[in-house]
Amino acid sequence: MPSAALQLDHGNVLDAAVGAAHGLGAAEIKRAAPAVKAVLTRIEAERKRGQHRYRDLPHDRQMLKQVQAAVRRHAGKFENLVVLGIGGSALGNIALQTALNPAYHNLLPARARRGPRLFVMDNVDPTQIANLLDVLGPSLKKTLFNVISKSGETAETAAQFLIFRDLLARKLGKKALTSNMLVTTDPQGGTMRGIVEKDGYEALPVPPGVGGRFSVLSAVGLFSAGLCGIKIDKLLAGAAAMGERVSETAVMKNPAALLALLLHAFYVRGKRLHVMMPYSYQLKDLADWYRQLWAESLGKHIDLDGQPCVVGPTPIKALGTTDQHSQVQLYREGPNDKVFIFLEVERFERDVKIPRAAGLPAEMAYLQGQTLGTLLNAEKRATEYALVASQRPCLTIRFPAIREETVGQFIMLWEAATSIAGGLLHINPYDQPAVQTGKEFTFALMGKQGYEKQRREYERYARRGGKSVV
Ligand code: PA5
Repeated sequence: MPSAALQLDHGNVLDAAVGAAHGLGAAEIKRAAPAVKAVLTRIEAERKRGQHRYRDLPHDRQMLKQVQAAVRRHAGKFENLVVLGIGGSALGNIALQTALNPAYHNLLPARARRGPRLFVMDNVDPTQIANLLDVLGPSLKKTLFNVISKSGETAETAAQFLIFRDLLARKLGKKALTSNMLVTTDPQGGTMRGIVEKDGYEALPVPPGVGGRFSVLSAVGLFSAGLCGIKIDKLLAGAAAMGERVSETAVMKNPAALLALLLHAFYVRGKRLHVMMPYSYQLKDLADWYRQLWAESLGKHIDLDGQPCVVGPTPIKALGTTDQHSQVQLYREGPNDKVFIFLEVERFERDVKIPRAAGLPAEMAYLQGQTLGTLLNAEKRATEYALVASQRPCLTIRFPAIREETVGQFIMLWEAATSIAGGLLHINPYDQPAVQTGKEFTFALMGKQGYEKQRREYERYARRGGKSVV
């Protein structure tokens, strides 16, 4: 393992740490390993047949070159980059920015930033969008809009696209539609692709066979990251390095296989709430990204044989130390139905010393001369100790430092773990039929042609009796 490799520490999920009632024994892990190995073998065979395409992204030189060329074309020309997208077409962009650019990036003066200010509009809240319009105001000309939608049909992204397209055309003239808009979408089909072809927008592809929540390492996540100064080649190099580790068929040497094994074993035992708690502000939005990946991929009601099932762990995100003062009371004394996944950083890129001062009371004096990094990590260790003392199983994923390479590793680790967990739950981790239903009924309620049946069904549902509003 190279020195910059992420580590998965699972000592505190074992029975030796949290007791047999709540921890896993060596024998239980050994018993679970053959099923995991079978899933790994199946995945490797399916990869040869062109499935699990997200695993190939770190090696796609052509894609990297295409994104880098687009970044070069736009670099230095814009004050703002606005990403229009939702779900898998937004969460990765936000996570990369928070992890790899300084906190409060948008508030820094232009000369202190490595790229434009980044706004990711992953909602259709009218107040939020109206406020963004105010913020962009006079700098609209210096704003690039990156519309990201694989399908091109998602109502939220389509609505945003129409609003900003109209704004550009009205304020800056039709030419701005091609100079200030870049569309990331399916290369072959879909509504957005049709618009790209018709109106001549610059476009980047969402690779075929890569679904939204597995697409952050494609043009979907890479373009905004690259334009904001993140070294996307290094991000992919980190993902490629983890790709090697997660191809290992010896379960105990494969961190994704081990993660999936442990979390699945706890799931079977009734610990179905999986709390990710980074002790790093930079990693907080990666926990949000994980939450979508784990939830949307694994919550299913039809299994691989087409039989009904009801499965799915519930991912929860928390942030250390903030949520020690919000959630930890519940986590330690409430129901013992959770597994904790801490993210720990060994070396912070920047640290802040707590100054010495004369005459401090003992209640504060212990802090002087130490650093905030030391305090943050001490709080992580202390919280983990307290949870373990209450028989709560805890995993730690340790980052030697937060860099492009380690963030790339983290992304590939969880994507691969999700595929393996899907195999263990015997479901398809790549579809999201339940989300589709919500999308279709939104179309129906908004009057889209072809959704009249859903509209009638909704009206029947809305008419069902009973007063329930006080
Ligand atoms: O993971 C997914 O597939 C979803 O979260 C999608 O990314 C999301 O629904 C947006 O879809 P689209 O990119 O087609 O607009």
